[in-house]
Amino acid sequence: MRERIELFDVIHETFAKLDGDGILQVAGDPPNPMTIGWATAGYIWGKQIITVLVRPVRHTFSLMESVKDFSVCILPDEYRKSLHICGTRSGRDINKIEACNFTLEKCLGADAHFISEASVHIECRIVHKHFLDPETLDALIAKRYYPKRDFHMVYYGEVLGAYKK
Ligand SMILES: Cc1cc2nc3c(=O)[nH]c(=O)nc-3n(C[C@H](O)[C@H](O)[C@H](O)COP(=O)(O)O)c2cc1C
Repeated sequence: MRERIELFDVIHETFAKLDGDGILQVAGDPPNPMTIGWATAGYIWGKQIITVLVRPVRHTFSLMESVKDFSVCILPDEYRKSLHICGTRSGRDINKIEACNFTLEKCLGADAHFISEASVHIECRIVHKHFLDPETLDALIAKRYYPKRDFHMVYYGEVLGAYKK
């Protein structure tokens, strides 16, 4: 059973994990979980928006290009090993749902899936996307994070709903 919650009530516990073991972005059918450490949440266009940044080399990138909805899943602390697997192995090579022994559930209000083991999950609809622009990106950030010039795609996900266990 999931209970609908107000996104900004769980923003601290959710986003504190971004600076730690990460959280999961789940996209595609069959769904593929990828660990992410970069994301923002706020208001744009009068909507609650979460942005996620995906490098084009990721399997998740090709999945995100073929769907309209995705989920963001926050796992309890004991899932550190699973977050490591989802952040170091590609869904092109292994089935990460099986490797992590995760259970999938259909989203309640989006055309996507989430991980049942998540304490909180957020359902999102892509309303905008663009590649980071190397022309306007700070030169030191570009040098440090993009020596291969593989600039992230930024996806803007309208929050359709946030839920906890
Ligand atoms: C803690 C952590 C945070 C990460 N954050 C991101 C991120 O924000 N964006 C991204 O594109 N890759 C990120 N990665 C790398 C991907 O999770 C990793 O390359 C993964 O294997 C890609 O999976 P996929 O090919 O199945 O999409 C992160 C990895 C870790 C361990």
